[in-house]
Amino acid sequence: MALWGGRFEGDTSALFKALNDSLPFDRVLVLEDILGSMGWARALGRARVLKPAEVNRIIKALRTLRDREIDPRTSTIADASDEDVHSFVERELIALVGDLGKKLHTGRSRNDQVATDVRLWTARHIIELRTLLISAMESLAALAEQELKAGTVLPGYTHLQRGQPVLFAHWALAYVQMFRRDFDRLGDALPRVLELPLGSGALAGTAYPIDRDALADDLGFIGPSRNSLDAVSDRDFIFETLSAITLMGTHLSRLGEDLVLYSSSEFGFLQMADRVTSGSSLMPQKKNPDAAELLRGKAGRLLGNLVRLATTLKGLPLAYNKDLQEDKEPLFDSVHHARLCLAVVPECLRGIRINRERCMAAADDGFSAATDLADYLVRKGVPFRDAHHIAGRITRRALELGVALHKLPIAELTAIDKRIGTDLYPHLSIDRVLAKRDIVGGTAPRRVREQLREAAAFLRKARRDLR
Ligand code: ARG
Repeated sequence: MALWGGRFEGDTSALFKALNDSLPFDRVLVLEDILGSMGWARALGRARVLKPAEVNRIIKALRTLRDREIDPRTSTIADASDEDVHSFVERELIALVGDLGKKLHTGRSRNDQVATDVRLWTARHIIELRTLLISAMESLAALAEQELKAGTVLPGYTHLQRGQPVLFAHWALAYVQMFRRDFDRLGDALPRVLELPLGSGALAGTAYPIDRDALADDLGFIGPSRNSLDAVSDRDFIFETLSAITLMGTHLSRLGEDLVLYSSSEFGFLQMADRVTSGSSLMPQKKNPDAAELLRGKAGRLLGNLVRLATTLKGLPLAYNKDLQEDKEPLFDSVHHARLCLAVVPECLRGIRINRERCMAAADDGFSAATDLADYLVRKGVPFRDAHHIAGRITRRALELGVALHKLPIAELTAIDKRIGTDLYPHLSIDRVLAKRDIVGGTAPRRVREQLREAAAFLRKARRDLR
């Protein structure tokens, strides 16, 4: 039976029910709905709307229901046909304690109730995503440390053309920086997620003397919302969460793409573990980087969910409208897939095999020191623009002769510019090229070691703060 039968005559249409019911997807909120209901029962008790004995009986029954519903073997919600999770919980409560259960909804509306449930759910999952982000960053930092010790060098790219060599560790730590910002962004959203709508009633505020500060405290919120119209219709907190998740998904997609590229035969820099790859049903020799491809591919879904929500919210009149029921699936879907992706990152990185010789051969291809050749001329007093031009001509000459820059005979070099001497050659070695980027954020080994220490300190603190 629906919660609102009184003013209606006859049955609702089955088609309407199929369109209208949200239980098939909002049942994941059952735990939050029960917790919120316990808090509301206690608040009604403090307001002397319910007697202490009544509160206790309701709480006890809600506990029984919770214990039943968190265990997949005893949960019944999947087979229920209630309109939504709130109707389910109320009906089950009434089944357990009879008429007393009908008192729980005093002064409450599903509008402030659902907003409260979704906020509780979102906060819980933000914490979970942040925990997974820490693990992902830890696995990147571990890989960075391993390859820093091994001295692995990678070509750094712009336009996917080789530019300047970088340490492999520098590449891995670039992703730590991205995920660190995602971690902060998700954390920044939390205080706004944890504003309590309960007590706002349907739209105007409840008519019972509820101590909303105490209620907020009880349910783990920071404080009560300040405007009931806003509180029942505000979904900014979902938007913000999806926005942070979408950006994180963009970072995951870039990591995925690097792994796809670097594990291809054309690059050959690394090999993904068998555990996270699959074969081809036709071509026996193939090993496909599916995990990395899906890290790349999920970004579209995550952005799609953000757009779904944004479109739902646009132009809604105050306050609650049923359109808002469409807020949940994008949220649940994005959290689910973000969580899968994050969890697979350590799994991918742990089993990765780096082909250090291949990386070095590509990084030290004979031209990666071209910028340093220009820098050498700058140190001899040549203005950089001219030095760049001279280095370009030398590069062209080396390409004509089919040799690396550092293999060009001195006569060839002086023929192009007399200011060049044999003291140039040491500047073209890859170790020198790396060591010279000795600046905050640069790829010199010393600086990357510093970066790694900083990342490790951040990760230790982040773990501690998450308690
Ligand atoms: N299932 C509804 C939702 O998700 C719950 C709130 C219903 N409120 C109402 N006034 N019909 O939005």
